[in-house]
Amino acid sequence: MGILDKFNLDGRIALVSGGAGPLFGSSITAALAEAGATVIMASRNTERNQALAADMRAAGQQVHAEPLDITDTASIDALRHTVEERYGVVDILVNSAVVGRGGGFEEQTPETWAWSAQGNMVGLFAMCKTFMTGMLTRQRGSIINISSIYGVVANDPTLYLGTDMKQPPDYTFVKAGMINFTRYLANYHGKQGVRANCICPGGYYADQPRPFVEQYEQRCPIGRMLDDEDIKGAVVFLASDASAYVTGACLMVDGGWTAL
Ligand SMILES: NC(=O)c1ccc[n+]([C@@H]2O[C@H](COP(=O)([O-])OP(=O)(O)OC[C@H]3O[C@@H](n4cnc5c(N)ncnc54)[C@H](O)[C@@H]3O)[C@@H](O)[C@H]2O)c1
Repeated sequence: MGILDKFNLDGRIALVSGGAGPLFGSSITAALAEAGATVIMASRNTERNQALAADMRAAGQQVHAEPLDITDTASIDALRHTVEERYGVVDILVNSAVVGRGGGFEEQTPETWAWSAQGNMVGLFAMCKTFMTGMLTRQRGSIINISSIYGVVANDPTLYLGTDMKQPPDYTFVKAGMINFTRYLANYHGKQGVRANCICPGGYYADQPRPFVEQYEQRCPIGRMLDDEDIKGAVVFLASDASAYVTGACLMVDGGWTAL
């Protein structure tokens, strides 16, 4: 098998939580579908998801939409039942959905942290445990958890000067925990054929206030924010046999942000 063949995902079933999200979610779905996988996008906004899935199927890709609320473990169990009945056992699980009520240190409360923990901690654990069952039975699987530069380093407050943007402290907490949980999964299940890795992207350009964008670009070694193409290669690499000996890794897709 040639090296390019190893990136091919034909015949694989991929599940992407938050896979219809307008930023990274839909890029991740598109990348896996372009590489040949059947992709199930799972998030709460099913009407939008169904429309996006229909558009992608019309373009010849195998993309489907199913409902999921990662704050609700019953919804995760129901998703597994639906996915296995309709599409088969999941080979690739991408945890991209994120919940949060925003706000900075002053605005956040123990209640907003409990909400964040329910979705980003309990939900992440339940997604991995639930969908790993089939992977462990078949001794094959790749889990990709979408963390962030803010799982590795803290926010730089000078980026936000001249804007009303906030730096939510719960986000840094859950994204850092996600990285070490991924290492736990990699270590605990490596000999059973299941790999687990993180991707840590930098900031996605989403029409943020001009001072923020300029300050970000100034600090970032590559000199720009991410666009919807930037995460695709990392996702396909970690999902595919091209990364067969990569597990427990944290792949920075950050334009060099954390190299400084
Ligand atoms: N946007 C960035 O600059 C950035 C930077 C680094 C990392 N990330 C990470 O990338 C991932 C994707 O985030 P994004 O900002 O690209 O947004 P996105 O556009 O991919 O949208 C997030 C998705 O999460 C879904 N979601 C929210 N609550 C949910 C719930 N309770 N149950 C199920 N789905 C739910 C939304 O419906 C949406 O589809 C997140 O894990 C985020 O932390 C984002």
